[in-house]
Amino acid sequence: MTGDPTHDPAAETPAEMPDESTRQSARQGEVPTSDGSAPTATDSGTDSAGHRLSAALTIGNRVVVRYRLEEGSQARATDFVGELIARNDDFLIVDTKKERVKLIRADVIAAKDVPPPASRPGPAHERVSADDLETLMAKGWVATDRAGLGDWVLRYAGGFTGRANSALVVGDPSLPVDRAIDYVERWYAERDAPPLFQVHGERGFALEDVQAGAALLERGYVAGAGRPDWTRVLVLTGPSADVPPLTTESVPVTADAKLSPEWLMTYGRSRSVVPGATEAVLTGSDGQLFLSVRDEASGRIIGIARMAIHPGWAGIFGVWVDPEHRRRGIASTMVSAAAMVARENAMPAIYLQVSADNADGIAFWQGLGFGVHHEYTYLAQPTA
Ligand SMILES: CC(C)(COP(=O)(O)OP(=O)(O)OC[C@H]1O[C@@H](n2cnc3c(N)ncnc32)[C@H](O)[C@@H]1OP(=O)(O)O)[C@@H](O)C(=O)NCCC(=O)NCCS
Repeated sequence: MTGDPTHDPAAETPAEMPDESTRQSARQGEVPTSDGSAPTATDSGTDSAGHRLSAALTIGNRVVVRYRLEEGSQARATDFVGELIARNDDFLIVDTKKERVKLIRADVIAAKDVPPPASRPGPAHERVSADDLETLMAKGWVATDRAGLGDWVLRYAGGFTGRANSALVVGDPSLPVDRAIDYVERWYAERDAPPLFQVHGERGFALEDVQAGAALLERGYVAGAGRPDWTRVLVLTGPSADVPPLTTESVPVTADAKLSPEWLMTYGRSRSVVPGATEAVLTGSDGQLFLSVRDEASGRIIGIARMAIHPGWAGIFGVWVDPEHRRRGIASTMVSAAAMVARENAMPAIYLQVSADNADGIAFWQGLGFGVHHEYTYLAQPTA
């Protein structure tokens, strides 16, 4: 071990030290049953996904590690909290607030992934900072090609979605902002793609008030790139505990850890896809579930949603219901199923993103108790 212990009272008690096989199991997720009873495993060997999902110990995630101290120390053990940088059979490397520490695995008593820290008082879905939530959400929709620039995340996925093809402006890019923008422009040029930036702020924020936003506007970048759905996107959050439970009246919801061709085909009805990139992004998180509802008469899928699984958080993406079957509670039931999985897997908070121009979508989410956490805008060059 090197360095001093760093305590974080907000961190949870670490779970037992997981191994690689545990991580594989965590990816398989679990299935909510349509009658509201306890979830069951999708694959053999995944009996208690809740524990496993929260103990994946994933590189890039925030982790808490309970570590045995040397003989003669005042305390027997201490906790390290920070980003897991690397792991192998012998060591864990963790970036704590103070410094990078190398922890001998044999002295690790327990360890697990934990949610981003609280930046203010309040329930789990409110107390996270916008920067931390943005960083978490990027792990729920993972681009095929990624690079870090300080805290910024550069993402490319063949043009499939703004989220997976934009530079996420969070924290410090480790360069003066103008040089960071130059760097991003070159990065996208190398991929023959137009540079796109995702800039966030508090509800109703002005781009001019965000340093990168002001610098981009000065260069002639345009908010929304001519797309109304990109001008302002709301990040909504809510407590999984407050989503209405499934009832015996609820339509049956299936949840699958695997992306099926039929789910993907239905997804293609809701938006344009990029073969290859779409599948990679949809399946690129540490854990995800694909929810669907079928029409009783035809057997066809008529409602879909994707759930991304994080430590302490669930993300909901791509909720869509066939226009002929709307206003019958199908989307609400899928969200109830997702919330049930969240509750049973120690995920008290749920996030989602909805365009500010989607009045129907916003009405739907607000009806389920979700509120605006922050907002973001995509900025592109006028020619893009
Ligand atoms: C938004 C959407 C998923 C709702 O699906 P749905 O199955 O019709 O939703 P539900 O029947 O569960 O609606 C539950 C409640 O949400 C609200 N709601 C749903 N659609 C609404 C609409 N078009 N306008 C106003 N409120 C709406 C209502 O309060 C509704 O309850 P009610 O029907 O008793 O009034 C569906 O319209 C859709 O697929 N839209 C296109 C994709 C989209 O916008 N997805 C959400 C963005 S993330």
